[in-house]
Amino acid sequence: MLGLSRREFLLGSTGTMAAFAAGGFAASQAEAVTHKLAMSNLDHQILPDTVTKGMMNFSQVGPPPVLRFTQGEKTVIDVENGLDEASVVHWHGLRIANAMDGVPFLTQYPIEAGQSYRYEFTPPDAGTFWYHPHCNTLEQMARGLIGVLVVEEAEDPGFDQDLPLNIRDFRLGGDGQFINFYKPRNAARSGTLGTVSTINWQVEPTYELEAGSLVRLRLAVTDMTRVGRYEIAGAEAQVIAIDSNPLPRPIPAKDMVLSPGQRADVALRVPVQEGDVAELVLRRKVGAKILVRFVAKGQSAGRRLEELKPLPPNPVTRPDLNNAEVLEFVFGWSPEGDAPQSSLCGTLGYSFWSINRTAWPGDLPGPFDPLATFKLGKTYILRLRNETPNAHPIHLHGVSFQLLRSNKRNIPPLVTDTALLLSEETMDVALVADNPGDWAFHCHVIEHQKTGLAGFLRIED
Ligand code: C2O
Ligand code: CU
Ligand code: CU
Repeated sequence: MLGLSRREFLLGSTGTMAAFAAGGFAASQAEAVTHKLAMSNLDHQILPDTVTKGMMNFSQVGPPPVLRFTQGEKTVIDVENGLDEASVVHWHGLRIANAMDGVPFLTQYPIEAGQSYRYEFTPPDAGTFWYHPHCNTLEQMARGLIGVLVVEEAEDPGFDQDLPLNIRDFRLGGDGQFINFYKPRNAARSGTLGTVSTINWQVEPTYELEAGSLVRLRLAVTDMTRVGRYEIAGAEAQVIAIDSNPLPRPIPAKDMVLSPGQRADVALRVPVQEGDVAELVLRRKVGAKILVRFVAKGQSAGRRLEELKPLPPNPVTRPDLNNAEVLEFVFGWSPEGDAPQSSLCGTLGYSFWSINRTAWPGDLPGPFDPLATFKLGKTYILRLRNETPNAHPIHLHGVSFQLLRSNKRNIPPLVTDTALLLSEETMDVALVADNPGDWAFHCHVIEHQKTGLAGFLRIED
């Protein structure tokens, strides 16, 4: 367990202002930009002196491309499935139309091998997001199908450089080849960790950055399992946004607890002296691990963190807490029952977990009943009750929610799409049901998601 103390938990508990904007966001009329993702099998070198076979990627060469969209601009993504199996692409954190959300059977049919699919949407929010399959999810993500997605603010926020960091582990043996993607006994507990930590598919890479410059690091924890504690060492650095939503006030980039699916935007001031090094460090029980180094290069640009203006808040509607209905969601063990059934999108063959005593039956055509049905435009308080001794990063598609309170700790009023529920924690979160459709709702420890801890919420039109 992480055993977070109040002080350690990121973002402090002093902020009382949530990151909400006053008004809506006007979409521009510009021509749509078209992106292409060619889902491919490939071999790629991760460990020295060996090539990992049987990887999967969103292009023919690794690492996965960083997608860059612009807030309020129409975007088209053509996905070609060059794998030998079905897939589907989900845009984690984007509040877009349900039909574009990329969840098999719930929002679209899986894209079969050799087929293509066009996604089209206008991202309403700026920030750091990511994209991944939602079909045979554990195996496809384990093999590499995970990319960072950036939605740029309409106005340049004033950094010298922007550096996305795709943070994930692979499960490789000493020969650099994949080993079993998970162990069932771990899936029934906190999940199976990888064996090789990577940043942008590289082990302990070094980036040369202009001395004294301001760099926007976009940390995306895309790992399938690891809840980690991260920090920037050796330089001044501040967290300016979490899960794509700007913080009312920046906080030091220390003790950043991030769970699978979460992102942190960090403003880094590169050391002034040429050759000086800053690091992103993962703090583990077994000791610290350097994930990536940033080396100062050249003469100091002489920038200072104080020069940065706060990022503009995203247009998330503020919940009306006085008129909110409270609904409880209980995350627990699986009741006795059948294991999930297989489909085009596979199954792990076990059922260990449940939401409201129901284990998700698998990625099947359905139709299935939603866990709850919301009225369009109304505010709801979701009481998330974790009855288990394990932590669960709970993720909701299509709508952002605000953290309200916990029975275990003080929590800041973050706006997010993924909330870490600690062991036996109950957390209240609030949302405005402003995006109609059937929205997947699941734990982002993928082994948990695929062994029952999943369902969906319906927002009526
Ligand atoms: Cu990253 Cu169903 O989501
Ligand atoms: Cu998602
Ligand atoms: Cu979980």
